[in-house]
Amino acid sequence: MSTPTDTAYVEHFSPGSGALPPRARYPHSDAKSLSLNGTWRFRLSGTADAEDDSFATQGRYDGDWAQIHVPGHWVLQGHGSPIYTNHLFPFPIDPPRVPTENPTGDHLRVFDLPADWPDLAEGGAVLRFDGVESCARVWLNGTDLGEFKGSRLPHEFAVGPLLRTTGNVLAVRVHQWSAGSYLEDQDQWWLPGIFRDVTLLHRPAGAALDFFVHASYDHLASTGTLRVDSDVAGRVTVAELGIDLATGESVTVPVDPWSAETPRLYEGELSTAGERVPLRIGFRSVELSDGLIKVNGRRVLFRGVNRHEWHPQQGRALDLETMRADVLLMKRHNINAVRTSHYPPHPAFLDLCDEYGLWVIDECDLETHGFTEQGWRDNPVDDDRWTPALLDRASRMVERDKNHPSVVIWSLGNEAGTGRGLTAMAEWIKGRDSSRLLHYEGDLGCRDTDMYSRMYASHAEVERIGQGLDGGPRKRRDLPFVLCEYAHAMGNGPGGLADYQRLFESYDRLQGGFVWEWIDHGIAHPELGYAYGGDFGEELHDGNFVCDGLLFPDRRPSPGLVEYKKVIEPVGITGEAGDGTVRITNKHDFADLSALAFSWSYEVEGDAVESGTLTVPVLAPGESADVKLPAPPATAPAGEAHWTVRAALAADTAWAAKDHVVAWGQVPAAPRRVPPLAPTARPVPGDGVITLGPGTFDARTGALTAIGDVPVRALRLDVWRATTDNDDGASWQADERFGLVWRTLGLQRMRHRLDAVETGENALTVRTRVAPAARDVGLSTVYRWTSNGDGLRLTVSTVPEGDWRVPLPRLGIRFGLCAADEVRWFGGGPGEAYADTRTASAVGRWHSTVDELQTPYLRPQENGARIDVRWAELGGLHIEGDPAFLLTARRWTTEQLDAATHRTDLTPGDTVWVNLDHSQHGIGSQSCGPGPLPQYHLRAEPAEFSFVFSTVPDPRTH
Ligand code: GAL
Repeated sequence: MSTPTDTAYVEHFSPGSGALPPRARYPHSDAKSLSLNGTWRFRLSGTADAEDDSFATQGRYDGDWAQIHVPGHWVLQGHGSPIYTNHLFPFPIDPPRVPTENPTGDHLRVFDLPADWPDLAEGGAVLRFDGVESCARVWLNGTDLGEFKGSRLPHEFAVGPLLRTTGNVLAVRVHQWSAGSYLEDQDQWWLPGIFRDVTLLHRPAGAALDFFVHASYDHLASTGTLRVDSDVAGRVTVAELGIDLATGESVTVPVDPWSAETPRLYEGELSTAGERVPLRIGFRSVELSDGLIKVNGRRVLFRGVNRHEWHPQQGRALDLETMRADVLLMKRHNINAVRTSHYPPHPAFLDLCDEYGLWVIDECDLETHGFTEQGWRDNPVDDDRWTPALLDRASRMVERDKNHPSVVIWSLGNEAGTGRGLTAMAEWIKGRDSSRLLHYEGDLGCRDTDMYSRMYASHAEVERIGQGLDGGPRKRRDLPFVLCEYAHAMGNGPGGLADYQRLFESYDRLQGGFVWEWIDHGIAHPELGYAYGGDFGEELHDGNFVCDGLLFPDRRPSPGLVEYKKVIEPVGITGEAGDGTVRITNKHDFADLSALAFSWSYEVEGDAVESGTLTVPVLAPGESADVKLPAPPATAPAGEAHWTVRAALAADTAWAAKDHVVAWGQVPAAPRRVPPLAPTARPVPGDGVITLGPGTFDARTGALTAIGDVPVRALRLDVWRATTDNDDGASWQADERFGLVWRTLGLQRMRHRLDAVETGENALTVRTRVAPAARDVGLSTVYRWTSNGDGLRLTVSTVPEGDWRVPLPRLGIRFGLCAADEVRWFGGGPGEAYADTRTASAVGRWHSTVDELQTPYLRPQENGARIDVRWAELGGLHIEGDPAFLLTARRWTTEQLDAATHRTDLTPGDTVWVNLDHSQHGIGSQSCGPGPLPQYHLRAEPAEFSFVFSTVPDPRTH
């Protein structure tokens, strides 16, 4: 007999005691329930045995107990602080022991039953916890119900006989650390607390217990077969299909299948003697056949993301609207799949996936990554003492989520090495549910899995796998391939998405991937904007590695998401200049194109001259057609022209309104002609200055000081960028970490030596050498200025000297303007783009402000470049590029950007710093994966590029 202060369970291998067996989770039935979410009393203690236990046994608390919101994490409500580590355990590895310092939160809630609660003598009641991190002990009205581990899994206790009409005292003691922590070493914040719902459920006599909805689809016969197995016998009805049958019996009827693209659900009901449970049935069949993952007979391509649960104030305590926001954002960005990295999500999220249509890899709450520090010695998944806990986790996931059509694959967990415990989980899952496939990345031999899964494999390796040239065990060679994580979206990036997508679309075996990851886990912070690892004084931490999402913490899409949307668009729209046609390809797996309306517009210098609708045949999945474009409008003015073709929703859908653009493409129609500039003006020496057309130069240094009446500061060659997380790279990456190499070489501290200022007949030439101290590498750089009187042309020629072994971060010029706000340009936009993140950049006429050009990465770094800019206007200057350039403008210097650790370190100065880059090095995703592909490297080689400057009225004064 244990006493309330006996805390041995905290450090026990066992998953717990006292809880009911796991069962299906459903949102609501006609049985009564009472949410116990809300304000609870709370007391934080430093150790697992806490202070005293009278709160639990007698429901007593002192007046000084705090209040806390449930669901929530106490460390986000002013008690203690969060800790972020990637894989390092923030405590000594000595399983199953945990530190004596074990923050322990006593939670207390006193509640009355609602007036309409059934008579206590009728039926029973169950107390359900949907998620508590990491270990909880529960008492109701002084009775010890038991304890449990398994943070992101449900636990239920039978409480019927203990309930009173009024004054029920529910006491929950939550320990931050437990043996379970060894199984929950996911890369995320450690956030203790009762972070999901607490509910009291009435269980009428004859209530449903567990049930399993089997709803398969036969794609040859177009029929669905339904059978509901139920612990408590009853009837199953689906009015729309005229189904009314006993549990355990099956029926086959014509149906529309469920898929992520066509999420057809049928409303049904399971009725037992005591309860009516609504069912949402989606008919679909998942199989491994011909070495492929097939749903309803067809190979599917996952355009996926890894989703951790995150909210910048609430942590992992998500409300329904936040979950819906995630699903809507995914659907609107063409995402069709989610891996619930690395634990089963709040159950309501899966309801939304069923409803809106997303393929789900449901992952078990299991990661033991920290054991890698000791070569996986003592890994719990290979130690039989832990196997009951592992099986408990597997069964709690499968039983809870088995009735969701969206769940097509179970995942054993993440980064847990290999071992008999994992095999036991796999065998149990296969035995319980043969209708889904099994995933686990950590076992390269694929002993227990139905697919070969990897993370962050390079393009080259993925291509070889696609070609079947990857070797490995026989079993694996016959399996389909998924990248369960790729394209690490930390900071600026990920680069190379389009190159992966081309591979996925070229080889059947490559069934797509899941970008790492959905959202930055930044914590809203009064001084720092968003906090990341180390900001709470953690002893061990992994900095901003926790901010690697396609969304900023406030769920604003980062440029990476906009790029991903374009790269994975389910309709291909391509064409060659002068063809007069556009090729439309239906890249859906199931849907034809009837939901989309196509339109064209003919744009000259970004201005739409004419537009109309485009009639596209209703292509079946995989089909293409060459569709004729109209003749270019006769009225079109001269200038660079494009056809832009868009595929937009023809009608409102559940996830976006009519006219939402799903896919687009541009076809060049008339090429750019760079306006010529005849060098007719002569340099004119004056008092310490030289003038040339509208340009004024310092006679001694040859430095440009003004163009017309626009003062210009410090115009010169620039090769440095504030290194991105991907430039800095991850320590475990084999690729060279250019961010570090650049810094060691000194590219952030280039010196500019002046060799000559030469005034010629019609040119001013300034010869320099740009090089870092202590190195022999340099760039011989010549600035050649010419003018026709109105325009001022700068031609920059650079020739590398010395032993350059690395690419350059950037190559271009930088200068300061004393005032600039509005920015207009013709070229790529509207958003940020670099060589390998440029698919979503459309040629057009764009405008923004200097402030809006910034992309607010949580750790400041290079950002905000607009690519392929033909001309730009800002600060009273018109700048024409020959060739097109990358444009960046910001109210701080690159050096300030580079030094900042949080957004709040950046304060606007009185100068707008403008970079006009001939080129920049690619982005890649080396913060965890491969760096930029070689074709995106900015090699140090001879280069020449020009800009023509002229003045325009500053829009602010007009
Ligand atoms: C993977 C891991 C993820 C995350 C990612 C890097 O190895 O599975 O949880 O840590 O790397 O952000």
